[in-house]
Amino acid sequence: MKLNIAVLPGDGIGPEIIEQALRVTEVVCEKFGHELSYEYGIVGASAIDQVGNPYPDGTHELCMASDAVLFGAIGDPKYDNNPSAKVRPEQGLLAMRKKLGLYANLRPVSTFPTLVHKSPLRSDLVDGADFMCVRELTGGMYFGRPQGRSEDGDTAYDTCVYTREEVERILHLSYKYAQMRRKKVTVVDKANVLATSRLWRQVAQEIEKQYPDVETEYMFVDNAAMQIIQWPKRFDVLVTENLFGDILTDEASVITGSLGMLPSASIGIHTSVFEPIHGSYPQAAGKNIANPLATILSAAMMFEYAFELKEEGKLIREAVNASMDAGVVTEDIASKEGKAYSTSQVGDWIVNYLKR
Ligand code: IPM
Ligand code: MN
Repeated sequence: MKLNIAVLPGDGIGPEIIEQALRVTEVVCEKFGHELSYEYGIVGASAIDQVGNPYPDGTHELCMASDAVLFGAIGDPKYDNNPSAKVRPEQGLLAMRKKLGLYANLRPVSTFPTLVHKSPLRSDLVDGADFMCVRELTGGMYFGRPQGRSEDGDTAYDTCVYTREEVERILHLSYKYAQMRRKKVTVVDKANVLATSRLWRQVAQEIEKQYPDVETEYMFVDNAAMQIIQWPKRFDVLVTENLFGDILTDEASVITGSLGMLPSASIGIHTSVFEPIHGSYPQAAGKNIANPLATILSAAMMFEYAFELKEEGKLIREAVNASMDAGVVTEDIASKEGKAYSTSQVGDWIVNYLKR
C-alpha cells in the first residue's frame, strides 16, 4: 500500500517524539512492504515565529493532500503567560480541526500491566480498565460565537453552541464503535443545567432506539468525573461534548499511569490526524527525556484508522508493551529501582524490536 502522510512536529517536545514515531512508521512500512512518503509542515508557535500564522495555508494544503497527519504537540509558555497575545499557537490546532472537519476525537484509555503501579489509583480499580472516550471536537464552547470582552474589558463571554446534526453524527459514530466493543455507551452531559446538554440528551434518546443491541446510560459530567476515578471499568464508550471531553480525558490518563501514554485519533470529513493527548511539555524540550510512547501509539492508530492496517497497528502496540516489560522507558514511567532511558533510546529499542 502507498502511505502518503503529513508530519507536523509542532512545538516543545513535538519534534523529538515525532522523530521516534516516524522511525517506527518507517520500519513498519519496510517490514510489511508499504511505500511510505511524507512531508513536513509547520504549525503552532514555531509557525507563528516563521510566518505569523499558527496554521498556515501551506500546512492546510499539505494536510488536505495527504492520507493521514501525524501531529506532535503545540503550545509555548511565552503565550500561556500572555493573555493579551493576539495570535496564539492553540488557534492553529483549532483551525486545523475545524478546516479538516475533525469532529470526532477518539481517545482510548487502557492500562498497561507494567504501569499499574504508577497510577495513584489502587491497582485493583484500574487494572483491566479499557474504554474509549469519544470527544466532540469542532463544536461547543471552543468554537461558539460570540466570544470576547466587553468594551471596558471587565466582562468576558464564551458561547456554547451545538446543532442537532453535530450531535447526531458523533453519537452514530460512538454507537458504531460500541458495537465493535462491549456494546455500552455512556452519554455524558450537564442536562440538568445546560440547554446544549438537553439537546444532546434528547437526540441521544432518539438515536439509542436505532441501536437496540447497545446499552445506553446517561451521566452528568460531574458524576462522570467521579466515576472515572472510582470505577473506571464500568465504561466502554464514553461520548461527550468538546470541553467536557478535554477535561475528562486528562483525568482519565491518570488511570494509565502517565499522560505520556495516551494516543488519539481525530477523524471526520477530510484527512484524519493522529496525535498524543499531552501537550508540548516545554520544560523538557530539547532534553531527549520526553516519553515518545503516546506518539508511537498514535502512529499505531494511524495504521489502523487511516489505512485499515490492523496487523501493523497491533505489532506497534506489541513493541510498546515489550519495551515496557523490558524496562526500557523514560523517567516518567520508570520504576523506582529501574533506570530511565532517553526518548531516542526508547525509540531505538522499539525500532530494533520491530526489525526482528
Ligand atoms: C487537547 C489540548 C487542546 C484542547 C489545546 C492545546 C487547545 O488540550 O488536545 O486536549 O484543549 O483541545
Ligand atoms: Mn486537553
